[in-house]
Amino acid sequence: MADLIDIEKKALKELQEVKNKDNLESLRIKYLGRKGELTLVLRSLKDLPEGERKKMGAKANQVKEKLQQAIDEKFLEFGQESKIDIDITRPGHKAKRGRIHPLTLVERDIRRIFLSLNFSVIEGPELETEFYNFDALNLPDWHPAREAWDTYWIKDGKKDKDKLLLRTHTSPVQVRFMEQHKPPFQIIVPGRVFRYEATDATHEDDFYQFEGLMVGKDINMAHFKYVITKFFEEFFKGQEIEFRFRPSYFPFVEPGIEVDVRFKGGEWLEMLGAGMVHPHVFEAAHYNPREYQGFAFGVGIDRLAMIKYKIPDVRLSYSGDLRFINQF
Ligand code: PHE
Repeated sequence: MADLIDIEKKALKELQEVKNKDNLESLRIKYLGRKGELTLVLRSLKDLPEGERKKMGAKANQVKEKLQQAIDEKFLEFGQESKIDIDITRPGHKAKRGRIHPLTLVERDIRRIFLSLNFSVIEGPELETEFYNFDALNLPDWHPAREAWDTYWIKDGKKDKDKLLLRTHTSPVQVRFMEQHKPPFQIIVPGRVFRYEATDATHEDDFYQFEGLMVGKDINMAHFKYVITKFFEEFFKGQEIEFRFRPSYFPFVEPGIEVDVRFKGGEWLEMLGAGMVHPHVFEAAHYNPREYQGFAFGVGIDRLAMIKYKIPDVRLSYSGDLRFINQF
């Protein structure tokens, strides 16, 4: 301890007598340099018994700070440029900017385009009941087509149609929305869906879809064709695309179709399922199917992103790998 106090006194006294920058730098090295007197004291602290080490450590650091500050002030007296060389021609540090995930980019695009077509954007729960996910969509529990939607069931003891599951598609929001609203309306429903499936380059067990639903007194398939064509033309703007409408089957539409898109010179790419809302679905929502009709469609957002940005593996989107995300 006495040594420390000596060092402090001695150093401060010598500092008074320093005449120029060179002297000052020598003094700094003498006390605070790699083998400086104070540095050596600080380094030797580790050999002391704990109680003493604490006391001495505190004092030594205090002395070091005081001395460093006094030296800094003296440097300033001798002229600014002495201690830090500022080279204003050196390049600066590049600031890192965050990126927006490709799925978010695509979802924003979808919202923008459908808002411009006068659709509203609606959301619904990811934790869904058996009723909305299946029964209300003309998929009673004996229906073989339920197998197309491998389901994560929740073990919660709830019974019958209140049984909980992770929604396998965004279609349940059709019925939820119709229960609360009267036609005419047109909505899209973007959201996360879940399938109890093995994953590979084109399948995830957790992904995104958006649903479309337009209902009124005289909505027909031609309206659907117009809306979906407009959407894809805007979404893939600048690329020439062709459409193919194929018959297909989904229990909640009749007739059901699938839509394929082809870029000039390319292969047909399956894009979505769609159709005219099945009368049973209207009945589940307490609509009179003789009064209203409409179309519904469901599109995989991940798939759109893969096609638009040429992403080879759907799982990359969920990898959390910044090297992937930083490309967008
Ligand atoms: N819900 C269907 C699916 O996930 C897609 C779909 C929606 C088909 C609406 C027709 C009408 O596969």
